[in-house]
Amino acid sequence: MIDLRSDTITKPSEDMRKAMYNAEVGDDVFKEDPTVNKLEEYAAELLGKESALFVTSGVMGNQICLNLLTEPGDEVICEIDSHIFNYESGSPAKLSGIQLNPIEGKFGVFTAEQAESKIRPIDAYYMPRTKVIEVENTHNRAGGTIWPIEKILSLKEVVIKYDLKYHLDGARIWNACLATGISAAEYASHFDTISCCLSKGLGAPVGSLIAGNNGMIKEAYRIRKSWGGGMRQAGVLAAAGLFALKNNFSRLIEDHINAKYLAEEIAAISSVQINLETVQTNIVMFKPIKMDAGEVIEQAKQNGLLISTVKPGWIRAVTHLDVTKDDIKKAAQILKKVLK
Ligand SMILES: Cc1ncc(COP(=O)(O)O)c(C=O)c1O
Repeated sequence: MIDLRSDTITKPSEDMRKAMYNAEVGDDVFKEDPTVNKLEEYAAELLGKESALFVTSGVMGNQICLNLLTEPGDEVICEIDSHIFNYESGSPAKLSGIQLNPIEGKFGVFTAEQAESKIRPIDAYYMPRTKVIEVENTHNRAGGTIWPIEKILSLKEVVIKYDLKYHLDGARIWNACLATGISAAEYASHFDTISCCLSKGLGAPVGSLIAGNNGMIKEAYRIRKSWGGGMRQAGVLAAAGLFALKNNFSRLIEDHINAKYLAEEIAAISSVQINLETVQTNIVMFKPIKMDAGEVIEQAKQNGLLISTVKPGWIRAVTHLDVTKDDIKKAAQILKKVLK
């Protein structure tokens, strides 16, 4: 089976497993796990922030950051297809008592003007208080699209003008960095908080990181613990994360090349809608015109290819470190066969 459902399905490589096996560990709830401490220091430096914290998942990372930046009753502006709005089980409301105010962007990206029009008047006591603007880079549901740095900067002017906070869901920030040449620290420098994943394109089995100033991360320790996220000998997982950051970043280029190749092959099939402009990193989104998406997914499976759907009618294929160029060529052939 060639599995292109997600870049989260990768399995730790032999070398990564060796690093995990050899990890020095301690009780991280006492802050005594040397490997977790090393990962957090390394991540803080990489992201150019005072401190970083290892958390169980991307969802936990985003939710801790939103909790840090808001009070119950506050509102967060985000994109309509964003992960926090669609795929985090309603946790902004459940965990922080906040609501989201989504904007329909283009390819996952909205403008400063759109955001400004959503900000609640400061004296409107009967409205929620706008507190945070959130950006997802790369944008998952839009197809791995990158937020242009100019857009991040113009949105930041709105954040400053209205004294808001700025959060980056950088689950796949590494893909954006690789594609643009902009460092993670440069991206993160524009935001109060950032969360980023080790378990997507970088190939670690578990874990995400959040970063911010010392005060925020100290408070984030408390929130993580209160939500049951205090891990003990987590060094075995942190070792995989460190290995992933040090060894699997530059190879993301292969995933991007494979995604582009696959997208171009799919674009050559007449019965498919695909916008090559959105294929900027490791995600390919396409819509069969003559067949139901579910039927395409089923037939592809019968032919040895796993793909998935993330929005009605659309199919998603994601490249990652457990698929080769040959696998991608085979995947393209299977899709041609099924979609004809
Ligand atoms: C953009 C984005 N943010 C957050 C997450 C959540 O990550 P996790 O599955 O580790 O909770 C994902 C997962 O796919 C994602 O794509």
